[in-house]
Amino acid sequence: MDNPVLPQGVTADSISLLLGHPDPATLATPQFQAAVQHVMASPQAALAYGDEPGHPALMEYLVDRINREQQLALQRENLMIVAGSTHAVDMIARLYTQPGGAVIVESPSYADSLHVFRDHGVALHSVAMDQGGVMIEAFEKLLKQLAEKDNLPSLYYTIPNFHNPTGISTSLERRLEIIRLSQEYGFTIVEDDVYRDLAFDTAVPPSFYTLANGKNVIQIGSFSKTLAPGLRLGWVIASAESIHRFVFCGTTQMGGGASPLAAQIVAEYCQRGHWDGHLEHLRRGYRLRRDTMLTALGQYMSPEVSWTTPSGGFFVWVTLPGEMQGSVVKAETLKRGVMLAAGEGYFINPDDGKHNIRLTYSFAPLSDIKTAVRILGEVIAG
Ligand SMILES: Cc1ncc(COP(=O)(O)O)c(C=O)c1O
Repeated sequence: MDNPVLPQGVTADSISLLLGHPDPATLATPQFQAAVQHVMASPQAALAYGDEPGHPALMEYLVDRINREQQLALQRENLMIVAGSTHAVDMIARLYTQPGGAVIVESPSYADSLHVFRDHGVALHSVAMDQGGVMIEAFEKLLKQLAEKDNLPSLYYTIPNFHNPTGISTSLERRLEIIRLSQEYGFTIVEDDVYRDLAFDTAVPPSFYTLANGKNVIQIGSFSKTLAPGLRLGWVIASAESIHRFVFCGTTQMGGGASPLAAQIVAEYCQRGHWDGHLEHLRRGYRLRRDTMLTALGQYMSPEVSWTTPSGGFFVWVTLPGEMQGSVVKAETLKRGVMLAAGEGYFINPDDGKHNIRLTYSFAPLSDIKTAVRILGEVIAG
C-alpha cells in the first residue's frame, strides 16, 4: 500500500524527478512549528475572515523586504496577499483578458499556467527561447502579425528566473528589450517569480518590475517553493490601480482575504527573522542537488543528449538525441521506478516538446538522484 503521506502520484518504491515540489524534509522546521503554536495559542483573529488585501503584518513585512531587495519604493497599496501564484495567474487572466483575446507566453512555459489561460478561453501565442530567454526578433515578428489582425496581446506571461521547465533565466538585455516591446505594443508583463530566492551562483538580474519602474508590470511571488506549498500563500505587486481592481473583484470581496490563518503563521515566522536563514539553508541544499544531477548527467548520458545548466530553482531541461520521444523515455523509466515529465505538456504546440524531458532535483532524496539519472542514461542508451 502507498504511504499516505507521500504526495499524489508518488509511490514508496519510485524515485520522483517529476514533481516541482520542495524537498519534503525542509517543510516542518521547529521554527515553523513554533510560529504555528504561537498563533494557535490565541487563534480568534486568525480564524475569522480577514482584510481583503491580506493580513496587515505580512503585507508590511513583504513591502519592506521587496523594497530592500528590488530597490523599489512600494507602498502597502501596491501589494496584495493571494492564495499562491496559481490564484494570482487565474485572477489576472480573469481581469486582464477576454475570450479570444491574445496572450503571449514563453515556449515552453509552466503547464498549469497554460491550463489557467486556456480555462479563460484566450488565444495563446508563444515565443521560442534560447539560453538568454525568449528570442526578441521572433517576439517582435509575432507582435507585428497580431497587430495586423487587430488582436494585440493584453498580457505577456513570463517566468524570468530559473524558469519552469527549462531552468533558464532571462538575461538583463532581453528584459530591457521586452520592456521596450511592452511599451511600444501596450501589453502588461506578468512576471511569475516564484524561484527568485533560490539563486545558487550569482544574484538574479533586476526584475521586470524594477527595470520598468512598475509601469505595465505585475509581479507574482509565492511561499510555495521557499517555505511550504500547503500554506497556499503568495503575493502580487502592481500599480495601486491594479491592486485596487484585484481587491475589489468579486471573489476577493466574498472571500475575506487569502487564508488569514496561514498568513498570520507566516507573518509570525518571518517577523521572528527565520525566513532568511531558511532560504540560505534551501539554497545550499538545492545547490548540492543541482550539482549532483549535473555531474550524474555528465557521467551517464550519451554525447548526443544535451541539457540546461540552471543557476537556481528546481529544474534541468533535457533534449533527447535525434528522433527519440520524451513520452517513450518517460514510460520506459517509469517501468524502472523513475518518474519524470515528458516535454509536450509545456508547449502550446505539444509536438515542439516531443524530444524533451524535464528533470526535477528538488524533491527526491539527494542519495537517489544519481541512481535515477543512471537509470535514465540506460533507458536512453537502449
Ligand atoms: C512558474 C510557477 N508558477 C507557479 C507555481 C505554483 O505556485 P503556487 O503553489 O504558489 O500556486 C509553480 C509551481 O510549480 C511554478 O513553477
